[in-house]
Amino acid sequence: MTPLLETLDSPAPLPRVGRELIDAIERAHIVGRGGASFPAATKWRAVAERSHGNAVIVVNGAEGEPQSKKDRALMTARPHLILDGAFLAARALRANRIVLYIGERHDVARNAMFRALRQRTEPERSRVGFAAAPARYVAGAEAAAIHFINEGVATPTNVPPYPFERGVGGAPTLVQNVETLAHVALVARGASANTTLITLAGAAARPGVVEVPFGTTLGDAVAAAGGTSAWPRAVLLGGYFGSWIEPEEAWPMPLDHRSRLGCGVVGILPMARCPVCEVAAIMRYLASESSAQCGPCFFGLRALADACTRTVEGGSDRNEVQRLQRWASEVRGRGACRHPDGAVMFLSSALTVFAKEFAGHVPHLARQTA
Ligand SMILES: Cc1cc2nc3c(=O)[nH]c(=O)nc-3n(C[C@H](O)[C@H](O)[C@H](O)COP(=O)(O)O)c2cc1C
Ligand code: SF4
Repeated sequence: MTPLLETLDSPAPLPRVGRELIDAIERAHIVGRGGASFPAATKWRAVAERSHGNAVIVVNGAEGEPQSKKDRALMTARPHLILDGAFLAARALRANRIVLYIGERHDVARNAMFRALRQRTEPERSRVGFAAAPARYVAGAEAAAIHFINEGVATPTNVPPYPFERGVGGAPTLVQNVETLAHVALVARGASANTTLITLAGAAARPGVVEVPFGTTLGDAVAAAGGTSAWPRAVLLGGYFGSWIEPEEAWPMPLDHRSRLGCGVVGILPMARCPVCEVAAIMRYLASESSAQCGPCFFGLRALADACTRTVEGGSDRNEVQRLQRWASEVRGRGACRHPDGAVMFLSSALTVFAKEFAGHVPHLARQTA
């Protein structure tokens, strides 16, 4: 195992690598750690094919997911490793500009990244810019990051053109999560990228960020961090765009590049908390975070959140659950970005795992446990 968080961070010479680094990250099965788990090598090739020495690398440290803390932890502990990944990407893709896109409220992480940047050479420093990502959920989406860097507006734009075709300043652009870039830096030095960062949230005995070797089961990862603080009802894997899973299904799941880890949040819902209230609160949040540009996203998510709230306040029956399922399927795939898809994936898994709670919801019980 090559630990990300437990190694000392300092500036070190970059290995001499070019396009062959793309093959190495493909062999290492590096997938994006920002949420979509997309193979990094595929994105790199798309940018490399179009770059004429003008490509741009956007280092995504927006971390807009409310429960996620792993990107901040990594930026604070290993800023040089992230910068190495970005400079290596710039070399392999013949990019002349790097933009650090860091959440505007992530002060400690941003300062650590700036401190590390000051320790780099002048030619390296001169290619790096900075943009403070607004503290909104959709601001972390890659199209929103590019829109913000180009025009100061952190809302997603229509694709195509995709970032690899026309991104920052109209140039081919690679947007990559900070953890993904850190793994690239390890692979470039011949190490393996066989760990993942997860954020334990909810009823974890010790909530926070842990690094887990691939192959560890989710149950062992939680146990190694002190276990749960209450009897769990379900596990939300992957944050607010993730899926609810029954604990007995979640605990034996091995963690690796194939896992449905999304942004790496493992949220544990305690038995004492009302799942319908929890789902309604998250749907309300996701609806309020729509950038209001696409009707199905803005109106659809609001209608779904309202229906969940109605269930919390007034109870529900099987018809209401079926209605929610149908509406959810009508919203999927109908936005300019994946915000509505993520939200309805979350809701669909809730309607499956909490089918009984939704169908037989008792309002007075909800008020006691909410
Ligand atoms: C609504 C929305 C919010 C997102 N927020 C983030 C974020 O905060 N950080 C992040 O790295 N990726 C976020 N993403 C994913 C990015 O669009 C993009 O896929 C990612 O930065 C690419 O890097 P990766 O392939 O290394 O994960 C978000 C996507 C969507 C649709
Ligand atoms: S799908 Fe939603 S969040 Fe994405 S651009 Fe459209 S309105 Fe905005």
